[in-house]
Parts: sequence; C-alpha cells; structure tokens
Amino acid sequence: MQKNDDESKLTEAVIARLSADADPRFRRVMQSLIRHVHDFVREVELTEDEWFEAIKFLTATGQKCDDKRQEFIMLSDVLGVSMLVDAINHRSAEGTTETTVLGPFFVHGAPEIENGGDMAAGWDGEPTCVSGQVRATDGTPLAGALLDLWQSNSEGNYDVQLADTGGRQLRAKLHADAEGRFRVRTILPTSYPVPTDGPMGKVLERMGRHPMRPAHLHFMVSAPGYETVVTHLFVKGDPYLDSDVVFGVKDSLIVDFKRSESASEAQKLGLQAPFYRASYDFVLRPAGAARRLAARSARDAA
Ligand code: BEZ
Ligand code: FE
Repeated sequence: MQKNDDESKLTEAVIARLSADADPRFRRVMQSLIRHVHDFVREVELTEDEWFEAIKFLTATGQKCDDKRQEFIMLSDVLGVSMLVDAINHRSAEGTTETTVLGPFFVHGAPEIENGGDMAAGWDGEPTCVSGQVRATDGTPLAGALLDLWQSNSEGNYDVQLADTGGRQLRAKLHADAEGRFRVRTILPTSYPVPTDGPMGKVLERMGRHPMRPAHLHFMVSAPGYETVVTHLFVKGDPYLDSDVVFGVKDSLIVDFKRSESASEAQKLGLQAPFYRASYDFVLRPAGAARRLAARSARDAA
C-alpha cells in the first residue's frame, strides 16, 4: 500500500495515479496542475483555515453562477487568466485584429438587425454610429461577415443584469455588405464596475483594487472559413484604460469616438446631433492558420 505520510513524495504519488491510458493532453494538463497546486500550497504554507476559506470561496463562486451570471469567468478575468489564455492562443496572429476577453455577459440569440440599424432603440444615451469594414489578412473584403455586438446601457448595466428588459437588449447581429462594410447605430458606451455583489467583489476589495472597466463595445466577428475574432472597441480618453480590472485593453483597440454637432451628418446616419462617430476595420485570418503556424514552429524547433 502506498503511504502518503511523506510531504515530499505526495506530489509524485498523486501524479503516479494518473492512468497511462488517459488522453495524453489531459495527462499533461493534470500533471502540471497537480505540480503547480502542490508547489503553491508548499510555497505559501497554506493553513487549514485558509484551505477552508478557499473551499468556501469556490463554493460561493459556483453558487453565484446561473444562466445569466458567470462568476467563474469573472474570477478568471480579474486574475488575468483570461487574458493570458487569449495571449497564448493568439500568438503569431500578426496582421489580424487583436482579441480580448469574451466576458461573462455574452449571450446567444441577439436580435438580427439590418446593416445600418439601431441596436439601442429606446435606450437613453449619447447617439453613436460605429462603422468599418471586415477584411481578410490579404485585404479581401469579407462579404456578408457576421458581427455580433453587445454593450451595457448608459448606467453600465447589461440587459441580463436588469429585471424585465423584455428579451435581448443592447445586442445585435448584423451582416456586412458585399464589400464587407458595416454600420450600426447605438449609444456611447460608458465605463462601469464589474458586478461586486459576489465573492469576486470581496476579493477585489481585499486586494485594494477598483472594479472598473473602461467604456467599450463588444464584438464577435466571423466569416465562413475564417477565425472568429472576439474583441472590444475601447473609447479613447476613458480614465480606466490604464487600469482595466480585467487587463483587457490593447492599444490597437482604443478608438476615437469623435463628437459631432452636424445636424445634416446626423440626419444622414439616422441619428440626432450631437452624436459620436467611430470607425474601425476588422481583419480576420483564414481558419487553421494558428494550427499551421504552430506545426511549422514545432517542426523548426525539432
Ligand atoms: C465585460 O466586459 O462585459 C466584462 C468582462 C469581464 C468581466 C466582467 C465584465
Ligand atoms: Fe463589457
């Protein structure tokens, strides 16, 4: 019988129980996870009280999750894990639009609107128009590319955080035209705090961190045969760009939302002056490009 009374041998004993028949990737991930968790516990000399606090914290995190709230994604975001996964998975994505966190507020089934339509009809806020083009890395316009957008209201709340919004709000799906061009009317996004009424809120407070995200508009841009881009456009000048609670800001995603007082320009866009106007082009790479690059660098390294 294996004895587990030797602290130094425990880690290898746990790893040794992994079946040799387990999926190789799963084995690799589990071995590393076990090593790092054991090393962490040794390094901080975790007390039994702290261990139980951690169990209570993870339990509370799970209990805070439902079909509208994902506290585990928040945990990952706030600890910078989501952005690390993002960085690792988009290495060598040069020439494409940079990606950032999905966040916990994406939901499937946003209403389809026409290109040029209004995704914020009936909501108070500063009238805004965002337009641009979706292209491939070689410059080819991606006709009919799908843009799935979501944002918070002018008080910083997503529809899923509000009672009785009557379905999906401040969300839209629209198709770019034959030249890959798109235009959408909305309201100017504002900075907002991530929800702090759950376990993550308490942890942020104990770490002495603010809960704010700089103003942004979420995009998921896809086209058949191309890698989907999940990203945001951040509003230039926002005071939280340098201290986003989820570390999601990248310089290339900061966009000037220019204020205009032109009534004629506003009328052409179907807006009221004064309004804000931003433009941004999205660039997608062919599907499988990341796999091909990884295979090539593995070959080069061999
Ligand atoms: C968001 O942008 O919607 C978001 C991202 C990460 C954590 C919380 C909210
Ligand atoms: Fe957001």
